[in-house]
Amino acid sequence: MGKKLLTTITLLLFAGSSLSFASEDARVLVKLPQKIENHMMSNMRDHLMALNEIIQALAEDKMDKAAKIAEYRLGMSAMKLHGSQKAAPYMPKGMRQAGYQLHKAATRFALKAEEEEDKKGALKALSEVVASCVACHAAYRVR
Ligand code: HEC
Repeated sequence: MGKKLLTTITLLLFAGSSLSFASEDARVLVKLPQKIENHMMSNMRDHLMALNEIIQALAEDKMDKAAKIAEYRLGMSAMKLHGSQKAAPYMPKGMRQAGYQLHKAATRFALKAEEEEDKKGALKALSEVVASCVACHAAYRVR
């Protein structure tokens, strides 16, 4: 079989599998009271903004700033400040755990970022923060 043909077949198979993935939504639907859903989604948008600000701060070698954003907008402190306890009782256990993973990973990143000499370690810790976003999004939806 020619190399071109093989590549084409592989691409078609790949496109097919991602299409079927998109049409069969396997995520668990979690029904939240509207007010709590709105609050959670506004937190989500802030999570994304915080990630962007963290990456910017890292690029400018402002490790302290990156640590503060992570701790107060995503970390264990954020968990206490932003009322995630209100939503927690409506969440299945796995989702609550995923949320806790995010807060823990963000605090771990903040501690790494404060050890300024360990930028590589900080980046690795940051990728674990993003992995926790990915894991929860892959498993749950609210609408
Ligand atoms: C505990 C689970 C969980 C974690 C952890 C989580 N999310 Fe979400 N997020 C959700 C759910 C559920 C939705 C709604 C998805 C849906 O219904 O289609 C959502 C939606 C969003 C949205 C869309 C908001 C809107 O206005 O529609 C953004 C942006 C987002 N998340 C960013 C993030 C980022 C960035 C992280 C990590 C720093 C993160 N999330 C971590 C569960 C989570």
